[in-house]
Amino acid sequence: MPLAGKRLLLVISGGIAAYKSLDLIRRFRERGAEVRPVMTAGAQQFVTPLAVGALSSGHVYTELFSREDEQDVGHIRLARDCDLIVVAPATADLMAKMANGLADDLASTILLATDRPVLVAPAMNPKMWVHPATRRNVETLRKDGLTFIGPNAGEMAESGEAGLGRMAEPLEIVAEAERLLEDGAKPLSGRKAVVTSGPTHEPIDPVRYIANRSSGRQGHAIAAALARLGADVTLVSGPVTLADPPGVEVIHVERASEMLDAVLSALPADIAVMVAAVADWRVATPNMEKIKKQPGEGPPPLMLAENPDILKTVGHHEKRPKVVVGFAAETQDVESNGRIKLQKKGADLIVANDVSPETGIMGGTRNSVKLITADGIEAWPELAKDDVAGRLADWIAARLT
Ligand code: CTP
Repeated sequence: MPLAGKRLLLVISGGIAAYKSLDLIRRFRERGAEVRPVMTAGAQQFVTPLAVGALSSGHVYTELFSREDEQDVGHIRLARDCDLIVVAPATADLMAKMANGLADDLASTILLATDRPVLVAPAMNPKMWVHPATRRNVETLRKDGLTFIGPNAGEMAESGEAGLGRMAEPLEIVAEAERLLEDGAKPLSGRKAVVTSGPTHEPIDPVRYIANRSSGRQGHAIAAALARLGADVTLVSGPVTLADPPGVEVIHVERASEMLDAVLSALPADIAVMVAAVADWRVATPNMEKIKKQPGEGPPPLMLAENPDILKTVGHHEKRPKVVVGFAAETQDVESNGRIKLQKKGADLIVANDVSPETGIMGGTRNSVKLITADGIEAWPELAKDDVAGRLADWIAARLT
């Protein structure tokens, strides 16, 4: 009974399908879940807070700026104090707000402030569902790690138009919520993972640094994919412009030495995936003040020192994780260099990729990788970095079990 004792936050937004949310509350409660309802202003045009409150037998949250509600729980606690957030029905408008990070009422603020899994059950007119704006928003929300159920095909209650747009039935939503909450069903639940991502910045002086072109996309996607499979993930990220992935603990660092410290403090772990493009060298003694141009003296010499090799340290550590994965960014001899790295770094797997400028991989959204293990080489087709991450997380899960 995955729903027994679980705390659900049910966000009801304004559509005719809101009447089905009343049944949804009953179904959740029959299975032993506690339901805290949040209603948008639109939702209250379709069903009353009185009815919702009677069925959930508790307080119904409707206002962002209500002194009473804020004193009772507060919107940040509402956003975090639950096992799962279910948005049913989710209107096109609410999804657009979610996809763009708007927070102008209680429901959208909770959805922006939460770090809990979110299940979305859209309901809208079929033309709105297929509109490019909605397609974009759904795509964004999927990438952000939200799960969708429905909409189903059928006739619309209000217009009689047919097509995709009907909210999924309450029992379908319940089944999907059960699936999401079923810990045992996730192959990496109970496992701990540490992932590095992004570049490192090695200071020359307070304003200048040595860095590289890594965007962090691949590492962040891997952290998110491992978390989706149930792992407890610590992501150690160098400076990137990406959002922290949902459901992942993120430690932000700048230099390789800080990255190493953060990774070691995350051990013991079952899985280490070192994706960061760590700068191999740092400036031996960064200047405390900005280096000034000195007339007639030419550019200052920079004395470099070698940075710690984080993957190699982890691969040979006494607390070595069961599965250690490294990346090999190469511009030539991808396979043979990858094999050498597998050995030298003490890794179980090297994911090798060709980062020659013409491939567009470094900083881009797609990747073409070869998996190098002691058993041989497996080439994957070119995939989106998110898909490489998903397949790699599956590979790791299979290896662990
Ligand atoms: N790596 C690391 N710490 C370093 C350098 C690299 O943890 N100081 C990790 C990377 O995260 C990656 C792997 O080692 O998983 C290989 O990185 P790459 O830059 O390809 O290799 P290098 O060890 O730097 O070797 P080279 O520069 O000679 O190719």
